[in-house]
Amino acid sequence: MRDYPHDLTNTPEDAAALWGCVQQDLQDLGKGEILRAAQAEIPALLDLGCGRGTLVRYLREKVGICALGADRRSDGGQWFFRRDTNEGLPFADDTFLIVYSRGIFDPNLYGNQPESVFREVRRVLRVGGLYVLHDGNLPMYRDQMGFQVLRDSILDMGEVVLEKTA
Ligand SMILES: C[S@@+](CC[C@H](N)C(=O)[O-])C[C@H]1O[C@@H](n2cnc3c(N)ncnc32)[C@H](O)[C@@H]1O
Repeated sequence: MRDYPHDLTNTPEDAAALWGCVQQDLQDLGKGEILRAAQAEIPALLDLGCGRGTLVRYLREKVGICALGADRRSDGGQWFFRRDTNEGLPFADDTFLIVYSRGIFDPNLYGNQPESVFREVRRVLRVGGLYVLHDGNLPMYRDQMGFQVLRDSILDMGEVVLEKTA
């Protein structure tokens, strides 16, 4: 496992470093096939809390993955949805192979209720799809929300990989 970057994803280089970590993680977990499958799906990946959308742009332009971004503050563009998970995400059930989130559980900044975030992520993920969470404030009861924990942060620095179960 590689150390995930700690800074925000502001440049294409940041996005490349971050995506390298995600790829390595999924390969190590025996989930490399989902990365290949993601290149054939439209859409394939949601960056939930995408900020400036740097990762979304990088994945679309450099990796060939059809990514979308949602953020309660983000201001548009064709790949971005200005939406808070608490309002419900504007995507159909079982849409994405991968949902990625970075830093959305900071209680001082966002006050998100983990139950509602996990419920909404689970809804838009396909069965067998992965929720890759990169967060210093991970909620403790994620394994009770219809996900199998493939990698937990107890051993690591705040990265978790969850698989949606049927
Ligand atoms: C720590 S920033 C990370 C931004 C970006 N992913 C990056 O790596 O640079 C977390 C982002 O999550 C967004 N966010 C927090 N809670 C959210 C929610 N419930 N629904 C949608 N976006 C949310 C915030 O607006 C913020 O842009």
